[in-house]
Amino acid sequence: MALGTRKSIAVLQAEAAGESEAHTLRRALGALNLTTLGIGAIIGAGIFVLTGTAAAQYAGPAIVISFIVSGLGCLFAGLCYSEFASMIPVAGSAYTYAYATLGEFIAWIIGWDLMLEYLFGASTVAVGWSGYFSAFMDQIGLHMSPAFTSAPYAYADAPKIDPVTHAVTQAAGFTHTGAVVNLPAVILIALMTTLLVIGIKESARFNNFIVVLKIAIVLLVIGFGFMYVNQANWHPFVPPNTGEYGHYGWSGIVRGAAVVFFAYIGFDAVSTAAQEAKNPQRDMPIGMLGSLAICTVLYILMSLVMTGLAHYPELDVPHPVFVAIDKAGPALAWLASIINIGAIAGLASVVLVMLMGQPRVFYSMARDGLLPAVFGKVHPRFKTPYVTTILTGIVAAFFAGIFPIGLLGELVSIGTLLAFVIVCAGVIVLRYRQPNLARPFRTPFVPLVPILGILICGYMMSSLPGPTWERLIVWMVLGLIVYFTYSRSHSKLARAEGSG
Ligand code: ALA
Repeated sequence: MALGTRKSIAVLQAEAAGESEAHTLRRALGALNLTTLGIGAIIGAGIFVLTGTAAAQYAGPAIVISFIVSGLGCLFAGLCYSEFASMIPVAGSAYTYAYATLGEFIAWIIGWDLMLEYLFGASTVAVGWSGYFSAFMDQIGLHMSPAFTSAPYAYADAPKIDPVTHAVTQAAGFTHTGAVVNLPAVILIALMTTLLVIGIKESARFNNFIVVLKIAIVLLVIGFGFMYVNQANWHPFVPPNTGEYGHYGWSGIVRGAAVVFFAYIGFDAVSTAAQEAKNPQRDMPIGMLGSLAICTVLYILMSLVMTGLAHYPELDVPHPVFVAIDKAGPALAWLASIINIGAIAGLASVVLVMLMGQPRVFYSMARDGLLPAVFGKVHPRFKTPYVTTILTGIVAAFFAGIFPIGLLGELVSIGTLLAFVIVCAGVIVLRYRQPNLARPFRTPFVPLVPILGILICGYMMSSLPGPTWERLIVWMVLGLIVYFTYSRSHSKLARAEGSG
């Protein structure tokens, strides 16, 4: 059986529409809920944590341009996702799109790759959440032992040296930190997993509440922050390059774009809920592009305010939004005190939506026989893919409890960028192979838009560090082993073709 065997779009559409009620997911989400799901997944650790580091170390105030570059890459990818999502409204997202266009092998690669985005993404953001949560508890006088709020392992690609004493402060590779487990991260994942098992509607309602809260806080930061901006902080807007690639100047802007790309991850998670959408053909593009557009505008304004309030080197902290608002002095002290609440709520909803996306990809892969059938089980009463939801929760909690955030974050970005590149390529391939297929949403200016998507996302991938690439390759090799030892021989499509 050829690795390039494709699943026909007609079969996919029939599967999504015609399955018996008892085994399918519940169609409960409208355009508004899908848009808030997207925003729920997008606004999180990226804007609340990474913006500061990226501005301070790479781009300076030009981090605003980094956000525009990265946002453009996402827009082009989002337009391509939308064409597929409206045409193939099936739960598996990019995995399913690839199965229809590029064949089973590439579909497997992308399905395996999406684990980096959703499963590891949930773990990464849960670790970030734990940091904010512990700091907040400290603030209100409830001190938790660091042994139970941080990772037992630290990781560094190269030894870390103290610039003054020249002593090695952290050896290369894994080192034991003395902590036991990152308990808040584990508990958050357990809570979100429980909610997701109970129901998609309940999960969406909880997400909506958080999204309103976090957008309100972001708008307050932008609105009040602008009043206290010190314009001198924006000069020079693009600090000159230091002579080293990626340290300010144009290369700094590009590296900054790759770092803040993490802040945009999540709009595509909307596409995993296609089988729970009431009117997926129309609402999937609205949900994805709407959430992306709203967050892009918020990010550009927010980074402008942050670099206007504080001089960019001062933002190199784990809580840069707080530091920026703090610069405004006592007048905004009330706002500084609620920023942590925004971050805590915001990061929780990111974890929720990531933990929602992963089981739905597994669900589709199991339906196709590439994973064991138990992964495709739907709860008879709750109508959720409960087996994979629980399994995803357990694995994500394990990683979040044990590993530090730095090791996971860039892997999530490179994995997502790879998925974007494949989806963009898929649009071109399908336009060429099946030009007459009904496309409720058409990506404009094909092949220009997908090509630009591939170029920008590919460029951002190329500026991620070497060890991140090595980890991506190791992960993919593991995936190939699973494919060739299990999935290929269990593929339903392969069996049908073999017998037919
Ligand atoms: N975009 C998500 C975040 O920033 C993953 O946390």
